[in-house]
Amino acid sequence: MTNTPADDLAILRCPHCLGSLQAVDGGASCSAGHHHDRAKQGYLGLRVAARGLGAPATGDTADMVDARERFQGAGHHDAVAAAVCDAAVAGLLAAPGDEGWAVDLAGGPGWHLGQVLDALPGMRGLLLDASTVAVRRAQRSHPRIVAATADLRARIPVGDGAAAAVLKVFAPGPPAEIQRILAPGGVLVAAIPEPEHHRELVQPLKLLKVPAGKADELVASLPGLQEVARTTVRETVRVDRAAAADAVFMGPNAFHQKRAEVEAALAAGPETRELTVAVTVVTLRAPGG
Ligand SMILES: C[S@@+](CC[C@H](N)C(=O)[O-])C[C@H]1O[C@@H](n2cnc3c(N)ncnc32)[C@H](O)[C@@H]1O
Ligand SMILES: [Zn+2]
Repeated sequence: MTNTPADDLAILRCPHCLGSLQAVDGGASCSAGHHHDRAKQGYLGLRVAARGLGAPATGDTADMVDARERFQGAGHHDAVAAAVCDAAVAGLLAAPGDEGWAVDLAGGPGWHLGQVLDALPGMRGLLLDASTVAVRRAQRSHPRIVAATADLRARIPVGDGAAAAVLKVFAPGPPAEIQRILAPGGVLVAAIPEPEHHRELVQPLKLLKVPAGKADELVASLPGLQEVARTTVRETVRVDRAAAADAVFMGPNAFHQKRAEVEAALAAGPETRELTVAVTVVTLRAPGG
C-alpha cells in the first residue's frame, strides 16, 4: 500500500472551518471557499493564522531538522523511539486495530511515525508540522506517510474521530482537539521529557529547563481520555561534541543559543560525554470502540 498525495483529503480538513476538502486546481478547497495550495512536492499547505495567536508558527529551521536527523540517525534516542512505537502498537492492537490512520502531531521529519508504520503495514500515516522543511522530508520519508504544514497551537486540521492513533512526541497539540480527532477506542501516545533529560547539557549551557510533572499535567488536560499505560525510558548514551551540539540545536534551544558559543563551551570539555535520556511515554485511550 502506497499513499498518493490525494489520499490525504480523506482525513484532512480545512484549518479555518474544519469543512471537508475537495481537490481543485493547485490544491484543495472547502465548501466555504477556503483554498489551500498543494506544493509541488505533494503536500498541502494548511498553516493558517489562528485567532489571537498572531502570525502562524513556522516551526523548525532546516538547520534544526538537520540536527534532529543526525542525532536520531546516530541512534541516541533509539530507546525513546522503541518505547513510542511499542506503545502505539500495543495500544492499537488492543483496540481499535491495526488499520486506519496514525496522525503524528508536530512529527518533524517523520522518524517516529515511520517506525510505527513499519510495525503496522495496514496503517497509513499523516504527519503535521509547522516546518516546511520537516514536512518535505517527512513526505519523502515513507511510502505510507502523507504530510501537511499546519500550526497546531489552536486547531488540528483533521476530521472528527478520524485518527486510530495520535502521536505527540516532544510536541505541541491542543488537548480538546486531540480528543476530537481520536476515533472511538483510539489511542494517544505522548512522549514527554523528564527534568533530568539531557541534564549534562542543560546545566552547564543554561538551556531551557523541563519542569517536573509534565506527564501528569498532560494526562490531567485530557479528561475525556483514560490513561492505559506509562513507561519511563531512563538511560545514558555516549555522545561526541558534534552530537552534543545537535542535541542542543534540534530543539527550541536553537532559538535562544548561538551555535558558535555552544561549540566553544563543548570544545572546552571532553571529546565524548555521557548524556542522560529520561522520557516518559504515556498511552491514553478514547472511550467507545
Ligand atoms: C522537538 S521537535 C519534535 C519533532 C518530532 N515529534 C520528533 O520527536 O522527532 C518539535 C516539532 O514541533 C514543530 N512545531 C513547533 N511549533 C509548532 C506549531 N505551532 N505547530 C506545529 N508544529 C510545530 C517543529 O517544527 C518541530 O518539528
Ligand atoms: Zn474552510
